[in-house]
Amino acid sequence: MRVPRHIAITMDGNGRWAAARGLPRSAGHKAGLTPVRLCVEECSRLGVEALTLFAFSSENWSRPAEEVASLMSLFLEAVDREIAELHRQRVRVRFIGNRQRLSVRLQAQIAAAEQHTAGNTGLKLQVAVSYGGRWDIVQAARQLAAQCASGALRPVDIDEDRFAAALELGGLPDADLLIRTGGERRISNFLLWNIAYAELYFSDRLWPDFDRAELSAALEFLAGRERRFGLTAGQLPQAGNEAKR
Ligand code: IPE
Ligand code: IPE
Ligand code: MG
Repeated sequence: MRVPRHIAITMDGNGRWAAARGLPRSAGHKAGLTPVRLCVEECSRLGVEALTLFAFSSENWSRPAEEVASLMSLFLEAVDREIAELHRQRVRVRFIGNRQRLSVRLQAQIAAAEQHTAGNTGLKLQVAVSYGGRWDIVQAARQLAAQCASGALRPVDIDEDRFAAALELGGLPDADLLIRTGGERRISNFLLWNIAYAELYFSDRLWPDFDRAELSAALEFLAGRERRFGLTAGQLPQAGNEAKR
């Protein structure tokens, strides 16, 4: 089976997982760490180049303050606890999203984690925290506008490649596969630009229950898709063709 270069996952359903057990929502978020570890290990093992996980959206800031606070302390704890093991697995970790909204302590911690693993040549792991697809597009536009204003760039030189490079995932291939757990069939402002040609796999499984078999099912689904990128089937070299970019 052809291995995708870039998998993106919207890890949804933690709250419902906890509620079904009579537990606080924070217990669901905590339980969501197990499938995160599993996906990182499995993607590393399969030779997937990049894995991007949606952990906290721009809109999630509007949740009850105590849930936001418990998620923020979970992120602090998780980065602290997992970074050595990720480094051992040669994973390069990066965080995408509006980090100015994070506490100074969390900002410092994620910067340290990124620095610590920057030289690693294994899986490229992106964790989206305080991330929104629209925010990402706006921050890219702002960067390019500033370059134009300073005279370093001409508007006519802004093309899709240059725009993509200014996005948070600049330099990574587009997502081949977007998995969303938790049963909802929507994007919820995750990567907008980078999923232009992603295959979409929706799983009814709640995120804490996501396991190896479900990841395999998603990969099999992807392998069964004919990715045409706008061409006709007759133009394609063969089934299971590779992503163009
Ligand atoms: C996903 O699980 C995690 C975050 C959005 C932070 P949810 O917390 O959205 O869980 P459900 O969808 O309410 O079950
Ligand atoms: C999407 O889940 C965000 C993350 C998983 C981090 P949400 O639970 O926030 O999405 P909606 O509200 O169901 O669209
Ligand atoms: Mg949800």
